[in-house]
Amino acid sequence: MTDQRAQFGTRLGVIATTVGSAVGLGNIWRFPYEAGAHGGGAFLLIYIGFIFLIGVPVICAEFIMGRGTRRNIFGAFRALHSSRYWAWTGYMGILASILILSFYSVVAGWTMEYLAEALTGTLDAASAGGELHDAFDNFAAGPRSVMWTLIFLAINAVILFRGVRGGIERASNVLMPVLFIILIIFCINSLTMPEAAEGLRFLFRPDFTKVDSSMLIGALGQAFFSLSLGLGTLMTYSSYFSDSTPLVKSAVTTASLDTLVAILAGIIIFPAVFTYGCEPAAGPKLVFEVLPSIFHQMPGGPIWAILFFFLLFLASLTSTISMSEICIAFFCEQLGMSRRRATLLNTVIAMSLGTLCALSFGAFSGFTVCGLTIFNLFDYLSSNIMLPLGGMLISIFAGWIVDRRILRSQLAGTGRISTPLLRTITFCLRYVAPAAILLVFLSGLDII
Ligand code: PFF
Repeated sequence: MTDQRAQFGTRLGVIATTVGSAVGLGNIWRFPYEAGAHGGGAFLLIYIGFIFLIGVPVICAEFIMGRGTRRNIFGAFRALHSSRYWAWTGYMGILASILILSFYSVVAGWTMEYLAEALTGTLDAASAGGELHDAFDNFAAGPRSVMWTLIFLAINAVILFRGVRGGIERASNVLMPVLFIILIIFCINSLTMPEAAEGLRFLFRPDFTKVDSSMLIGALGQAFFSLSLGLGTLMTYSSYFSDSTPLVKSAVTTASLDTLVAILAGIIIFPAVFTYGCEPAAGPKLVFEVLPSIFHQMPGGPIWAILFFFLLFLASLTSTISMSEICIAFFCEQLGMSRRRATLLNTVIAMSLGTLCALSFGAFSGFTVCGLTIFNLFDYLSSNIMLPLGGMLISIFAGWIVDRRILRSQLAGTGRISTPLLRTITFCLRYVAPAAILLVFLSGLDII
């Protein structure tokens, strides 16, 4: 079975696909607005702490389980332990992947609308007329938002139909370098703005009076969301790694590049926000309302708008490909479906739920659960609860249940792993990551 499974062809393919999964709307759209809402520097510092203290060990755990078993998330738990209970972590991951795919595709659809508007000049005209706020609200509430969600999911399906090597790897190899180049051009542009220094101060100078439980939960949720961690994405991808892929190095590279992109996004956005007198804590609207007006004021603005929304679209696509793969691998391997049928089923479910999410800005805006619209509910349940909880369970499972010999042999791969490094990773998996996640959860309940 192991030999028949697809594998990524090259080391570049491994990095491009895992980083492609991690880098997405989470870095470029969500990170700046979360950092903006929580005061900038202190959020960034705590976020980076979570990425390396919790994120890297949990990525290693997913890699060990994925490559060690060469199965989907559900199959990996079953292969490593006979109890049915642990496999529920797999079900939770599959459910989280569907919820995220549904609301994420709506935002990805918005990027396509804005790209289309930037190409036709409508966006620049709306910026000139000061109509961005109403234009966004009208669009998000209307049928075009549903249409773009469905188109986005159809494009996602076409890439997935082509399989791991032909589709995902080839697409990522092309898309990821393009994305880095566009980001760097943007950074250079932002650093030449008049208020660049103030923007950078906001992003990099920590103000620890801003630290509270909501910031801790925000930073933890952002770390998991941004690393695509806790739901089996990296476990599924690592099941396609070759035996010689170095796991620790790949984990550190993925986390570092993902963090770099988030920081680059901050460097792009905050100087612009301060230069044009915008509000850093504008929330999720930051990208869709504020940036177009910034582009409008910049020399060559329409070109920047096209590049920016094209970039967001690419970044979203490599992420949704990875979250879909969790479900598709499960459908194929556990339910015996063909890849084509599994992709179709995943797409139909996401299109149905995605339509509900899109409509929650319009026709269904009055339908709420615990005060949250369907879109916000899916986001809250998956990002703030399921991913950190999944990460905690994966960490405990890898640290306490999985045989030490499997940890050692997987982390060593075809090379060697030093005993101190193995001990450090095991210690983090057993104690540090679970305790830190638990403490953040408890702080949110106001228990500590
Ligand atoms: N990490 C992606 C981002 O930052 O946009 C989002 C994501 C992808 C979450 C894949 C979960 C996932 F399985």
